[in-house]
Amino acid sequence: MEKFVINGGNPLRGEVTISGAKNAALAIIPAAILSQDVCRIENVPTSISDVSFMIKTLKHIGAGVKLIDRTTIEIDSRFVNSYVIAHDMTKYLRASYYFIGALLGRFHRARVAMPGGCYLGPRPIDQHIKGFEALGAKVTVEDNAIVETTADELVGSPIYLDVVSVGATVNIMLASVKAQGLTIIENAAKEPHIVDLANFLNSMGADIRGAGTDVIKIRGTDHLHGCTYSIIPDQIEAGTFMVAAAATKGNVLIKNVIPKHLESISSKLVECGAVVEEYDEAVRVSMDTRPGKCNIKTMPHPGFPTDMQPQMAVLLALADGTSIVSESIWSNRFRYTEQLMRMGASITVDGQIAVIHGVDGLRGAPVRADDLRAGAAMIIAGLAASGRTEIEDILYIDRGYENVVEKFGNLGGDIRRVYCVEPFSNADAG
Ligand code: EPZ
Repeated sequence: MEKFVINGGNPLRGEVTISGAKNAALAIIPAAILSQDVCRIENVPTSISDVSFMIKTLKHIGAGVKLIDRTTIEIDSRFVNSYVIAHDMTKYLRASYYFIGALLGRFHRARVAMPGGCYLGPRPIDQHIKGFEALGAKVTVEDNAIVETTADELVGSPIYLDVVSVGATVNIMLASVKAQGLTIIENAAKEPHIVDLANFLNSMGADIRGAGTDVIKIRGTDHLHGCTYSIIPDQIEAGTFMVAAAATKGNVLIKNVIPKHLESISSKLVECGAVVEEYDEAVRVSMDTRPGKCNIKTMPHPGFPTDMQPQMAVLLALADGTSIVSESIWSNRFRYTEQLMRMGASITVDGQIAVIHGVDGLRGAPVRADDLRAGAAMIIAGLAASGRTEIEDILYIDRGYENVVEKFGNLGGDIRRVYCVEPFSNADAG
């Protein structure tokens, strides 16, 4: 078992380079099997565990995967020979369900165990199923554990999503890109990784228009070919460093970003009193006063991302005044507030609203990462707090942040990964 030990109080200063976007990579990696060819994908965050799981899954179904260098992989999909993915491959991450759309697109058949992933509240897949069925597939969910879907042929169709869903938009794009005729996804998700997936598929020869708006039109093509493609920078990793710079009253140049993707985060930081300077492919965040309060409501893109809500709450916990955070995407994304309160934060949660009364300072404490972004929030809190913080369950953080110790360490953060002995349990009793 590993944990992070942080001695807080150092303002972060210097430069950090952001990795490729996790959530784009998780959609693009399975999308590669839609060609019977070789795709070279650059700017892949290869060292996060979610990406390793996707690569393992690819290999399991017969794809060849070569690591060309630390951020480039080559996926050879010529010999993919299975449409079955079992629970041991899907239990760790949500995005494993993108193999349903990709396998359905390639073989007109998929049998994939239900996905695991961070617990943020119920995570239904009804809109994915609605999309597959609209394309002509028959879908059965066996014992709430396995999704089996088959189609004699896939035929394009209009599909209106009842909720704006990133996952359903991705899965329908994957399943329809080789269908006959035109698919129109209405009320589609507009996140940067949806646009990135569309750009990747288009560079394989697909005909997808409108990605980044709420109507995506996909004209099916028979054949997709290999390509070379570079994944966009990670919006949420960038946002995490931006908030960490502000919360530690530091000054950090965050490189390899698309500032347009960060606008909702930048504007909230500015509202709290941070200075945000935008360059072509970088942003600088600095802060030298106590943060001011501000209210946040999470929304689908281009609104404030739910995946930045816990990190931003740390800054608000240190603000002068009371802030209100409304979570409108997930029903259970405030579990981390209990951990923050162990560090001295003053927060009351009522359903999907958290009221944060800013305090003068946080103090180090033993805490845990309840999920990926909750874990990122604990790192920021530990870096901003006085004294020593120990974070357990860091496997969640390793799912989505590359070289996190090195990156924060290079900015002057005192953070170490340490190995610790598993606590004694009855399973160990002789
Ligand atoms: C993606 O999850 C991200 N994951 C999440 O990031 C992110 O929090 C979320 O989008 C929202 O931005 C990946 O991209 C791999 P949704 P996803 O389908 O696709 C409801 C992180 O920390 N819904 O957009 O699973 C659902 O319950 C992760 O990086 C249905 O009702 O999210 C939720 O309330 C965690 N029926 C809302 O839609 C469906 O069929 C949005 O979910 C599908 C979703």
